[in-house]
Amino acid sequence: MPTEIMPLPERVESLASSGLTTIPKEYVRPESERDSLGDAFDEAMKLNSSGPQVPVVDLAGFDSPDEAVRAKCVEELKKAAEDWGVMHIVNHRIPLELIDRVREVGKGFFDLPVEQKEKYANDQASGEIQGYGSKLANNESGQLEWEDYYFHLIFPEEKTNLSLWPKEPEDYIEVTKEFAKELRVVVTKMLSMLSQGLGLESGKLEKEIGGMEELLMQMKINYYPKCPQPELALGVEAHTDVSSLTFLLTNMVPGLQLYYGGKWVIAQCVPDSLLVHIGDTLEILSNGRYRSILHRSLVNKERVRISWAVFCEPPKETIVLKPLPELVTEAAPAKFPPRTFKQHIQHKLFKKTQEDFTSPK
Ligand SMILES: [Fe+2]
Repeated sequence: MPTEIMPLPERVESLASSGLTTIPKEYVRPESERDSLGDAFDEAMKLNSSGPQVPVVDLAGFDSPDEAVRAKCVEELKKAAEDWGVMHIVNHRIPLELIDRVREVGKGFFDLPVEQKEKYANDQASGEIQGYGSKLANNESGQLEWEDYYFHLIFPEEKTNLSLWPKEPEDYIEVTKEFAKELRVVVTKMLSMLSQGLGLESGKLEKEIGGMEELLMQMKINYYPKCPQPELALGVEAHTDVSSLTFLLTNMVPGLQLYYGGKWVIAQCVPDSLLVHIGDTLEILSNGRYRSILHRSLVNKERVRISWAVFCEPPKETIVLKPLPELVTEAAPAKFPPRTFKQHIQHKLFKKTQEDFTSPK
């Protein structure tokens, strides 16, 4: 059978290093998306202490032998999950040296020449999304995002395919495996606290999304090159995460913007923290008590931004996600219809296509 050879998409890194001063039209966002769009460093400068800011939750209290201290910690996390749906967590107990190594090996991979990274290119046309990639234009406008990425499954270990992970730098695999294990412990802790926040048993949410065997952790390393016109481009367009929880680590370059209280608010960089998003899956299970917030990534002129996002996802088809019966009452009827994770993703894509179709071009 003849196979069609698809040209590789152009990498944003190659484009950025070509010395261009204006960005190609595919990267220019429509007027309707340009509210508070700007250089991430300028937006971060505007952040002032009187305005709303992503909350910081200290998890240390949850390890306390004192029940009242633990309860206070759960309460803080619950408030952040209800109000923002996103928070910085500190005292997560992942060794900080390990986090620095994760940053080093990820940067080490992206420091390789583009030709070398192409050996790991994913094959989106055939459905293999693991590997090195860039967004393909999937709508009529051909809209693209200012980033390249590396995507692969990191947990459970027996479901990973190491042949799709970077082999360079040579300690990439060892460091990433170790990080996955440590982060998995934090996932359980967060789910347990969030369950308690809803008045449920500690293990409830974890069980509902697949537990140790079925819950998948997918890592996406986002590489955002410097952009000559950050006021026109987005690294990642506005979306809510479909996951249960998403963990985000960065190289301390700002860029994440949250849509809170009718305004775009940039997230500050908090040393030694991880940022956590409540994803759609927990919004559904909690019947909307925890929220999945709209967010996007800005780019900037001065520094490359790298972020490591780990999406914790339920299995695609074996679990039907719906508001937990304990949280559905006459006063709070179910806000979401039952759907598998796969159906939820399809529903979102369908809705988006409809919106693209009906919105003025
Ligand atoms: Fe996201």
